Amino acid sequence: MTYNIALQFEDGVSRIIPCEPNELVADAAYRAKINIPLDCRDGACGTCKCHCESGSFTMGDYIEDALADDEAANGYVLTCQMKPTSDCVVRVPASSAACKTEVGAHGGKLTKIERDSATTVSFSLQAERPLAFLPGQYVNLMVPGSKQTRSYSFSSAPNTSELAFLIRDVPDGLMSTYMRKQAQPEDFMMFTGPYGSFYLRPAVRPILMLAGGTGLAPFLSMLLWLKQNPTDHPIRLAYGVNTNEDLVELETLAELKSHLPNFEFFTCVVDTDSGHPRQGYVTNHLSSDDLRDGNVDVYVCGPPPMVEGVRKWMSGVGVTPKSFHFEKFSSANEAVAA
Ligand SMILES: Cc1cc2nc3c(=O)[nH]c(=O)nc-3n(C[C@H](O)[C@H](O)[C@H](O)COP(=O)(O)OP(=O)(O)OC[C@H]3O[C@@H](n4cnc5c(N)ncnc54)[C@H](O)[C@@H]3O)c2cc1C
Ligand code: FES
Repeated sequence: MTYNIALQFEDGVSRIIPCEPNELVADAAYRAKINIPLDCRDGACGTCKCHCESGSFTMGDYIEDALADDEAANGYVLTCQMKPTSDCVVRVPASSAACKTEVGAHGGKLTKIERDSATTVSFSLQAERPLAFLPGQYVNLMVPGSKQTRSYSFSSAPNTSELAFLIRDVPDGLMSTYMRKQAQPEDFMMFTGPYGSFYLRPAVRPILMLAGGTGLAPFLSMLLWLKQNPTDHPIRLAYGVNTNEDLVELETLAELKSHLPNFEFFTCVVDTDSGHPRQGYVTNHLSSDDLRDGNVDVYVCGPPPMVEGVRKWMSGVGVTPKSFHFEKFSSANEAVAA
């Protein structure tokens, strides 16, 4: 069995490389033409020290100077001595450029374009070659007919050949207008990726997911992955939108719930004329109990004001979760301004 090793570089680029049983991660990286930092290759210098965020492995011989006991206990590894015994996520303390690698460039054909509601469109791409990613990550898609790219999170499970996306239809938006007016099945789209550090960590405690609008997309990918890799820990999703029209994928969520007995979700709508039983922001419908005295991993994804709202709410409640991960769906304009 070949293991998938996700190398996460400092600049947000990911490369997922195959590693054979009994193969060292450093050798697998070298085979994939990735120069992760290395020197002695003998467990003596510590140059190849990385952080293993998930997965299991065995370590060969090394000396304390290269990797101290407390570092090893905290998940640090020497990739020149590390043999995976499962898929792993390894954070490399160097940029992708420094490791002489770069993000993957891909192409794919549009297979499906569906209007989920007046404000939301979903589409799928059949990639030309397999693309591995972590649930929660995103790609930069080139808008056909332009030289501009837009970022979109995968809404599909990481191991499916058809890549799915969920996007908000922004009036006059470049990608939105392409999807609304021009996109046809078989259209070819180019993209780079995967990117991002907003991905599902090992489920070792309760998980709280907070989605704003199409910020639901990466959570669909995570939940589809959890459906294949179940956990006993509770998973709670709060899905907030502005208007009733923005509420989409409810059937998918109900279907996921029927497969994941420890998964529950609720929706809320900001619009006070919506007639929705829960009106207001997601934070209006959460309590400190949802933070379980800090024994929870919190994931937040949506427009920047929503992510900041959640952050403020958490500091107001005064509970710090064990881990907090977020993705802001900033627009290309906001990114340039920043
Ligand atoms: C890491 C990352 C992942 C992302 N993933 C997703 C995703 O999965 N789904 C998704 O829908 N979006 C996602 N986005 C946002 C996405 O990249 C685009 O910004 C968005 O789709 C608008 O692109 P556009 O070309 O249609 O509009 P643009 O041509 O970029 O914008 C046109 C005008 O609309 C404004 N505008 C842009 N976005 C919005 C908005 N949401 N509401 C109101 N006005 C807006 C702009 O400021 C501009 O004035 C993500 C962003 C990032 C950074
Ligand atoms: S390269 Fe020296 S310890 Fe790994």
